[in-house]
Amino acid sequence: MADTPMGTISIAPNVYWVGVKDHSRKLFDGLISLSHGTSYNAYLVVGSEKTAVIDTTNPGFEQVLDDKISQHADITKIDYVIMNHAEPDHANAAKYVLEKAKGAMLVTTAKGKEFALAEHGIPGDRVMVVDEGSSIDLGGKTLKFIDAPWLHWPETMFTYLEEDGILFPCDFFGSHIAYGQFYADEFGYENTLDLAKLYFAEIMMPFRTQGKKALEKVRALNPRIIAPSHGVIHRDPKFIMDAYADWTDAKMKRKVLIAYVSMWGSSKKMADVLHEALVKKGIEVQIYDLTATDVGLVAKELVDTPVLVIAAPTVLAGVHPVAAYAALLVKALRAPTKYAAVLTSHLWSGGAVKQLSEILGTTKIEIIGVVDAKGAPRKEDLDAVLVLADTIEKKLE
Ligand code: FEO
Repeated sequence: MADTPMGTISIAPNVYWVGVKDHSRKLFDGLISLSHGTSYNAYLVVGSEKTAVIDTTNPGFEQVLDDKISQHADITKIDYVIMNHAEPDHANAAKYVLEKAKGAMLVTTAKGKEFALAEHGIPGDRVMVVDEGSSIDLGGKTLKFIDAPWLHWPETMFTYLEEDGILFPCDFFGSHIAYGQFYADEFGYENTLDLAKLYFAEIMMPFRTQGKKALEKVRALNPRIIAPSHGVIHRDPKFIMDAYADWTDAKMKRKVLIAYVSMWGSSKKMADVLHEALVKKGIEVQIYDLTATDVGLVAKELVDTPVLVIAAPTVLAGVHPVAAYAALLVKALRAPTKYAAVLTSHLWSGGAVKQLSEILGTTKIEIIGVVDAKGAPRKEDLDAVLVLADTIEKKLE
């Protein structure tokens, strides 16, 4: 089923996708590049007695949401605005809907109420607080609420539509996709997995423990459909749940990520020698030039790669800033990386190893090797790189 700008789709009887596909958005959170845009999926559930909208939309799309809801219901008669997550890409239009629907209540967690007041200026007397096991009967459509905090903000929750077996988990299981297709099976499972993994790396990876707990609850529900608030909808939830099981478990592959930046070729040469030595050992290697790579791709590799090698020159008594940024990202995303190594070179003052050690020293990552060449790498430096390849092979046994 293809997307049209004003199109809505029915995902179950009287349950409609009324979201927005934002094809032109290039950046999220000022950090994450969106090669395929994104969508802000909102859902309308029409019961025999009452009507609810689940999540809303990003700033600037209020009228689009209004027009889409109005194709199926009178927006002024909406009874509930379910706020699974307070981040503005999903909650910004909640206030708009509440101002149109004077009798509607915003439904969220206790923490969500705090954020609704502080971030969105919603009056406290328009907020209904729910917790694990709370439910709302719309008339033949029962919305059950599930505690799922810290995915990836503290207030997050899931909503489950019992009669239709549809889980609305907001960001969880999401992906930044604004293609025409609505469902993962239409978009393709491999394509979906690729973008869902990228999304997981950047948004959910730091919250693996909370994600694992939430996943157990989802498995117990055994939903027929998972309808996240970004990207495609899962009519075959098993494949995305299985992928999340691996990712939240930090299931590692026999793989090495080499992230390099090179000014005059020394770091690249050492990276290339290591790459070749590891491949000869039958080890999968992903190698990225940090100056020409979307940092999201690096993050995606971190989901299941136990060994990270940073190759970068010394600049101004520290590591090249692009490599420092990559190391900071590894730390910020709480990557499950187990081992790291540093390949660097300097001519007069060192400092790259010290700086990278300081950044990674506050993580659980063990630094298993350092090669710091004076100037262009000589034979003894490249021999040390080969020793590092042996060390990595042993760690991957
Ligand atoms: Fe898609 Fe955390 O907002």
